[in-house]
Amino acid sequence: MSRTAAPAVVILLGPPGAGKGTQARMLEEDFGLVQLSTGDLLRAAVAAGTEAGKRAKALMNAGHLVPDDVVLAVLRDRMAAPDVSRGVILDGFPRTTRQAAALDGLLASAGQAVSAAISLEVDDAAMVARVAGRFTCASCGEGYHDSFKTPAHAGQCDACGSTEFKRRPDDNPETVAERLKEYHAETAPLIAHYETEGVLHRVDAMGPIAGIRAELAEVLSRAMA
Ligand code: AP5
Repeated sequence: MSRTAAPAVVILLGPPGAGKGTQARMLEEDFGLVQLSTGDLLRAAVAAGTEAGKRAKALMNAGHLVPDDVVLAVLRDRMAAPDVSRGVILDGFPRTTRQAAALDGLLASAGQAVSAAISLEVDDAAMVARVAGRFTCASCGEGYHDSFKTPAHAGQCDACGSTEFKRRPDDNPETVAERLKEYHAETAPLIAHYETEGVLHRVDAMGPIAGIRAELAEVLSRAMA
């Protein structure tokens, strides 16, 4: 039995490269939920040159977390959009205990609660290779990897047909090491928080993408039943 009424609120926890973005996009397709990635929202703010983007840019490029007030403001704006009423997959949020408390407060004020928090469990050592090989479609944002997930037709996005791709400025080994440190210091403690709340699910995320997708589908079907 689900703890919450619709819309569902699903959290994906995991270090850089764990597959949060990859799986969130698949869960959008499988469950009709909306992916909310604070990383994507902050990168859009940086590209647009907003105040939030100016405060975030150097921190993101160095692999550090962006201040909670900046992240919360960006997320609140996005959560006010009408499509969010379909239910959300939070990809990369919350990342600190303060963000988790703010989310709990936001949901409680709307009579909601977290439906499921999924911890994607991986080996840190493998994450540098995963992140360093990542690229995305510059047009629709579909994610790929040099070795693990290449486009079906080389140089052409499977999802939208674009031939333009891009790589992130924070996807280098030094910055990934900082991002892993931040994850273990600030975000990993949230796993215990959601375990205490009775909504935590641990998923081994070291296997093939399709197998993890199937396991997540099972977990969420049960959590949202
Ligand atoms: P963000 O964009 O959230 O980055 P991240 O958490 O470091 O996570 P990644 O996007 O690197 O990894 P992912 O788990 O999504 O993996 P992916 O699916 O792409 O945040 C960036 C920065 O923004 C932060 O450092 C911080 O500065 C700031 N920020 C964001 N949110 C914040 C917050 N809430 N508070 C404060 N600051 C915040 O997969 C990686 C690659 O591996 C891909 O190429 C993929 O194809 C491949 N892959 C995926 N799964 C598999 C698999 N099972 N096997 C093989 N390859 C796989």
